[in-house]
Amino acid sequence: MAAIVELAGVRKTYTSGTLSVDALRGITATIDQGEYVAIMGPSGSGKSTLMHILGCLDVPTAGTYHLAGEDVSEMTETELADVRNRRIGFVFQQFNLLAGMSAWHNVELPLLYAGVHRTERRDRALAALERVGLADRSAHRPGELSGGQQQRVSIARALVTNPDIILADEPTGNLDSVSTRDVLGLLDDLHRQGRTIILITHEYDVAEVAERRLVIRDGLLSDQPVTAAGVTP
Ligand SMILES: Nc1ncnc2c1ncn2[C@@H]1O[C@H](COP(=O)(O)OP(=O)(O)OP(=O)(O)O)[C@@H](O)[C@H]1O
Ligand SMILES: [Mg+2]
Repeated sequence: MAAIVELAGVRKTYTSGTLSVDALRGITATIDQGEYVAIMGPSGSGKSTLMHILGCLDVPTAGTYHLAGEDVSEMTETELADVRNRRIGFVFQQFNLLAGMSAWHNVELPLLYAGVHRTERRDRALAALERVGLADRSAHRPGELSGGQQQRVSIARALVTNPDIILADEPTGNLDSVSTRDVLGLLDDLHRQGRTIILITHEYDVAEVAERRLVIRDGLLSDQPVTAAGVTP
């Protein structure tokens, strides 16, 4: 299996004035193409910081990050934006859909940024909505959809560019148990179709669906067995 994510000695220090926080303290990890990995950890452990780096929204203070073989750790804002658009599909806890736009328009937005022609945009957005079972809701706005349906729209939006990685940060955090099952089932389907999925969560029940679990604690990551009672010591 080819590695899609290679982190080596990744550190992230936030500095403001004389205060500094070492949010990541030397993370080395490899994720292979097609893996389904859950990253778990308590509040303040560095999950969001790591997600920002994995998603090319931020760069490490030290260490390297190779994404599909490309060193992204020293890239400029513009280069990062380009890599992000090509390689990553994001799913957020708060869905992050534009309220004034139909599901269809929300899903085609990443293609607009990528410069895809209008007709192709519309076809691909509709195909992505079909894939998440929402073709019949394509004209609805987010406010006219349930939470679970909104999250499926955002998964369609994450998929539409055909990214290497789906990066989901607490994707079920705002959903009831039925919608949670629905969304996790969808991520599972995508994984079985060969996608790389990285799921960030603090819930064991959710992390359980992944084939591999990484635990982050105090800015350090480890492959660790996890039990329903929590992370093993
Ligand atoms: N922009 C920032 N400036 C300074 N410190 C920050 C910043 N963002 C995060 N931190 C600090 O870095 C550490 C890791 O934060 P992070 O947000 O990555 O944790 P988390 O695991 O996502 O927590 P939660 O589960 O509560 O979302 C924390 O100590 C936090 O206070
Ligand atoms: Mg967080």
